[in-house]
Amino acid sequence: MIRSRCLSTGFRVPDRVVTNHELEGMMETSDEWIRQRSGIEERRWAAEDETGADLAEAASRMALERAGMDPSELDCIILATLSPDHFFPGTGVFLQRQLGVTDIPCLDVRNQCSGFLYGLSVADAWIRTGAYRRILLVGAEVHSAGLDLSLRGRDTGVLFGDGAGAVILAPTEEARGVLAVKVHADGRHAETLWTDMPGCAHRPYITCEAIEEKLHVAAMQGREVFRHAVKRMPETVHEVLGEAGLPLEAVDMVIPHQANLRISQAVQKTLGLPDGKVYNNIQRYGNTTAASIPIALHEAVAEGRIRDGDLVCLTAFGSGFTWGAALVRW
Ligand code: ACO
Repeated sequence: MIRSRCLSTGFRVPDRVVTNHELEGMMETSDEWIRQRSGIEERRWAAEDETGADLAEAASRMALERAGMDPSELDCIILATLSPDHFFPGTGVFLQRQLGVTDIPCLDVRNQCSGFLYGLSVADAWIRTGAYRRILLVGAEVHSAGLDLSLRGRDTGVLFGDGAGAVILAPTEEARGVLAVKVHADGRHAETLWTDMPGCAHRPYITCEAIEEKLHVAAMQGREVFRHAVKRMPETVHEVLGEAGLPLEAVDMVIPHQANLRISQAVQKTLGLPDGKVYNNIQRYGNTTAASIPIALHEAVAEGRIRDGDLVCLTAFGSGFTWGAALVRW
């Protein structure tokens, strides 16, 4: 039986650390409010000339080096982002160009916080069918280019951070790798967490008035997001365990999408897991949406919190609403 397994991981966060105290000088907020509501202490913001493709490239090169691979050995790129470098084309082709690779497909995934898991489900299927053998899967975000630091946008402005995480997936016949992956969506909640413009539902797709009204930055009904996230993530963790025929007790580490520490803690409580079995790093990076799971995965492996043979569960929830989980034998 062919499964897809992760050969290596990599990550990159910008050098600039922005603490909650620094935000206090830019907007009406407080370190106490941010910590209490989200657990976030600091996040990273990209430099003016640093793009999502740049962060993705650095994360990808680290993953390639750890796998002992040259970019030319890749046969596919999947890149998940909600903050693309340009309206079109997707960031994937810019990453391809920066890696010096040509003529391999680049798929951009637009499933926000669940983007990495959606990308993983596609990569896993492509590898199992034999379509591709070396897939680079990346989540990369530059939120700092579009944060609303005004009073109106402070609920989201404090949450998001920049960064990228990458994994390289390849086929294996060993009893390891991706055991199950499930993704879901419910478009009834599309406007609960969204950015309205630029968007071709409008004529023209962006206006000066829209920018004045801040329709080009994220708008969120935070409590609704919270309510659904804490229900859907545990539900889908049980779903992938059911599919793999494994009990919750067999899981060594859960990596939840780093949306908000309070969400991760509620998910942990619902699942009844001890602290040592849930990985969180949102305190240092904020919410990096599609990049949060691969960054956390990289750090958990680097810190020895995930070892060969461990059963790892990844789970995400986000805008759309979209959500999902994956079960991986490391
Ligand atoms: N600093 C200080 N005060 C703030 C800030 C801020 N940054 N943002 C909002 N407030 C104020 C509000 O204006 C409000 O003031 P009021 O009571 O005078 O009207 C007060 O704080 C409470 O606001 P709420 O929005 O009701 O605060 P809530 O307790 O719901 O917390 C939060 C907001 C943290 C966003 C919460 O709803 C939440 O955790 N939601 C989950 C959504 C989330 O984490 N999303 C992440 C991105 S989505 C994803 O990745 C899944």
